[in-house]
Parts: sequence; structure tokens; C-alpha cells
Amino acid sequence: MTSAPLITLKADSVDGLYKMNNTAQQIQDEPNSELAIHTTNLNLWYGTFQALFDINLDIKQGRITSLIGPSGCGKSTFLRSVNRINERLDYVRINGSIDVFGHDIYAPEVELVQVRKQIGMVFQRPNPLPTSIRENILYGHKLHNREQKYSRDDENDIVEQALRQVLLWEKVKDRLKRKATDLSLEEQQKLCIARLLPVKPQVLLMDEPCSALDPKGTAAVEELIWELREQYTILMVTHNMAQARRASEECIFMLMGKVVEHSDTAELFVTPKHKETADYIEGRYG
Ligand SMILES: Nc1ncnc2c1ncn2[C@@H]1O[C@H](COP(=O)(O)OP(=O)(O)OP(=O)(O)O)[C@@H](O)[C@H]1O
Ligand SMILES: [Mg+2]
Repeated sequence: MTSAPLITLKADSVDGLYKMNNTAQQIQDEPNSELAIHTTNLNLWYGTFQALFDINLDIKQGRITSLIGPSGCGKSTFLRSVNRINERLDYVRINGSIDVFGHDIYAPEVELVQVRKQIGMVFQRPNPLPTSIRENILYGHKLHNREQKYSRDDENDIVEQALRQVLLWEKVKDRLKRKATDLSLEEQQKLCIARLLPVKPQVLLMDEPCSALDPKGTAAVEELIWELREQYTILMVTHNMAQARRASEECIFMLMGKVVEHSDTAELFVTPKHKETADYIEGRYG
């Protein structure tokens, strides 16, 4: 039997999304803690089904951590909990806590908009807005800076800087007004990463960011993710063992809603501590 959940999450109003507050500003101003994400006894239920069990994880600042495990083990659920996407569903209940840079992101005074500002998310399939490349980059920035006025030159700089960071600038600089959806999938995924950057997030969550890409696109996006480490804390779900080995510094193995092992990636793959981890990475199940 599981204990009764302490908190019932409700969807926030859309208006609430756009409100800023001082508490959230404090979150932004405190980037020096060594731990980016710290969870304590995190449990999550979809209705009566428990998907996460007592998750206690420390994700270090400025590192790439991969999250692996068989289908349905709760990787996406965990990731979505870290930027409060799950709470859109009124049948999701959660207890325990998730601290990001020392602040509980589920505390009542924390605005969802600030959580989203601090923690960006990239999904399996690139999901650019059906507007121009330029507008895609500026969308989040405008949303989060409604009270400030930026000149066209300022905006041009923001667009250029973000596209340079994802190594797309040279390719698209002459077609910024073209529709983002006309780009290749690899370019769209890079754009989806780029559009997070002007908002200056500290944490980037990526749920199988390369799964829709061909091997060349995968290599290019992996290279980009590697480039972005240190500037950002990156937590990336992947089904691809080779990708977890190549592209992450620490690795978490989950099974049936529980964390089995969290170690340096090389250690986890060479000398796994648990039989379940060894069985999984050797392809015996999953
Ligand atoms: N919105 C939802 N409503 C109800 N149950 C859900 C929902 N999302 C996920 N689940 C269930 O929670 C469990 C964990 O799912 P989750 O998507 O987190 O797994 P995953 O490890 O990301 O799997 P995959 O590798 O296939 O993406 C599964 O049993 C799934 O069926
Ligand atoms: Mg998933």
C-alpha cells in the first residue's frame, strides 16, 4: 500500500503563467549551489497508478546527466515533474519535493512561469512554432520580458547569439524570415534548443532529443548538447545506450518507477553496481 499523497496538483490559469514575482527572481539569482536538482522522496501517481517511487536524486550543476531505463519505467514522468508539466493533468498527484538550485519548485509562492524560465524542455519531436525562424527564437524571450522594450538591433543580436550557440547561424542567417517548419528535422531540433537560450535557463531537460533524427542529425545534435554543457545543467532521457555513454557524464538507471543506480557514466557502463543495471545495459531486457 502506498501512503496518501500530500499534495494534489491543479492546472494553473493561463494568466498565472505570465505573472512574475520576487520569490522566483531569487531563484534566478542563486546559481552557485553545486546541486542543480535535488529530489527528496518524490512519489507520483496517475490516478491510482503509482509511476514514481521515492526518487532521491542529486543532479550536479553544469553536467550532462542521462536517464536510461526500459520503456514505461518513468523517465519522462520524472523529467516532466522537474518542470511541472505533469500538473496540467488534474489526476496527477505528487508528494516529496524537488528543489532546483535550493528552492522547492512546488512551493505555493513559486510561479509556473518562473519555473519554465529557469528550466527549459526539449521534446522527442522538434516542435517549432509555425512562424519564422526569427520569431521562434524571440517568442520565449518576448513572453518573459513583456515589460521591457527591445530595439530591432537588440532583437537581431538575441537571434544571432542564440543561433550561433546552436551552430545554426551560418546556415540560416539569410533566411530568418522563412518558416521554421521548412528546416530539416535536425535543424528544427537545434532551433528548439536555440529558442530556449535567450530566456537564460539554468537547466535544460531533454526527452529523447535525437529519437526523431537520422544518424547524422543525431551526431550533430549530440555534439551541440556536449558544447552546451557547463553553461547549462542538462538532464537527458535516452533509449540509446551508445548515446548515453558518449554524450553524458553521469547516468541514472531507472526500473519500474525507481532509481536503481546513479553513477559516473563510465563507471555505470563498465562496473555497474546492480545486477538489474548490468542486465539492462547488456541488452537482456528493455
Ligand atoms: N499521462 C499519463 N496518464 C496515465 N499514465 C501515464 C501517463 N504518462 C505515463 N503514464 C504511465 O506511467 C508509466 C511511466 O511512463 P513514462 O512515460 O514516464 O515512461 P518512460 O520511461 O518515459 O517510457 P518510454 O521509454 O516509453 O518513453 C507508464 O506505465 C505509463 O503508462
Ligand atoms: Mg518517455
